[in-house]
Amino acid sequence: MILSQALHSVNRTLSAANIDDANIEAELLLCSILEISNAQLYSEPERLLSATEIKHLHNFVKRRLSHEPTAYILKRCQFYGSDFYVDRRVMVPRPETELLVEKTVEFAQRRCLLKNQFVIADIGTGSGVIAINLALALPEARIYATDISPSALQVADINRCHYREASNRVKLLQGNLLEPLSEPVNVIVANLPYIKNCELQTLSPEIINFEPMTALASGEDGLDKIRCLLSQAPGKMCSEGCLLLEVGHDQGETVSSIADSQFAQAIIELIPDLSGINRVVKITL
Ligand SMILES: C[S@@+](CC[C@H](N)C(=O)[O-])C[C@H]1O[C@@H](n2cnc3c(N)ncnc32)[C@H](O)[C@@H]1O
Repeated sequence: MILSQALHSVNRTLSAANIDDANIEAELLLCSILEISNAQLYSEPERLLSATEIKHLHNFVKRRLSHEPTAYILKRCQFYGSDFYVDRRVMVPRPETELLVEKTVEFAQRRCLLKNQFVIADIGTGSGVIAINLALALPEARIYATDISPSALQVADINRCHYREASNRVKLLQGNLLEPLSEPVNVIVANLPYIKNCELQTLSPEIINFEPMTALASGEDGLDKIRCLLSQAPGKMCSEGCLLLEVGHDQGETVSSIADSQFAQAIIELIPDLSGINRVVKITL
């Protein structure tokens, strides 16, 4: 089989199974197996695939047809322009979460705080993508990255060690929300689970059958973890600090009013993502 045939065949098979963006997924699978760039995929259409490569491809397609996310099959994903290792111990980072990183960097850069004393906590770090990107973008900041799941922290550690320029400024801590923090921080950033119990059944098989439940579920209204984090926050934050929380499409107003009752003097903003959905609640003390 030659490359152009393989690409066409995988695309057709994934499309027939109603997999979204089948052409992009086919490209990703083939580029990964052949270890080539997207440009090479189209500049070498006559390239002959070896028996091992074809076997490998069949295996990947079979896994994708069983709804395993491509990021788990390839054991990698992109987030905020960088590559990260992922597997089933962590949730696959979502593009909309990049807004949290962008807004945190913006806040940190505006506040000219004493340089090496700027401390950020990424709560529910998962694969560590938020914490590591913040360390890369803010060379003077120290970052705590916490998670309740020891196995998620193993993945975060793989990514932390890969980015040497960030590794010594990102400290991984296991525990419940803010409990592991040993000092007050300037910024708390968190993409915690926010799915309502009743919505779990409606999630795609890619999510519900493969992603860790601890990364998804958060009680009846989806706000158990966020509510608990907000109640822990006083005493864990420096004055004039800031909390940036990712929320579900219909949770912005409720989280704002919980934050308002917790921090009477705070400035609370809802920040929309590119689709106009209120995605981040920013609480400036
Ligand atoms: C939605 S995932 C986000 C992962 C990562 N921050 C990202 O944006 O891709 C939520 C993460 O919060 C962690 N988590 C759940 N409950 C927690 C708790 N009580 N304390 C700390 N982390 C928690 C989960 O293990 C999971 O890694």
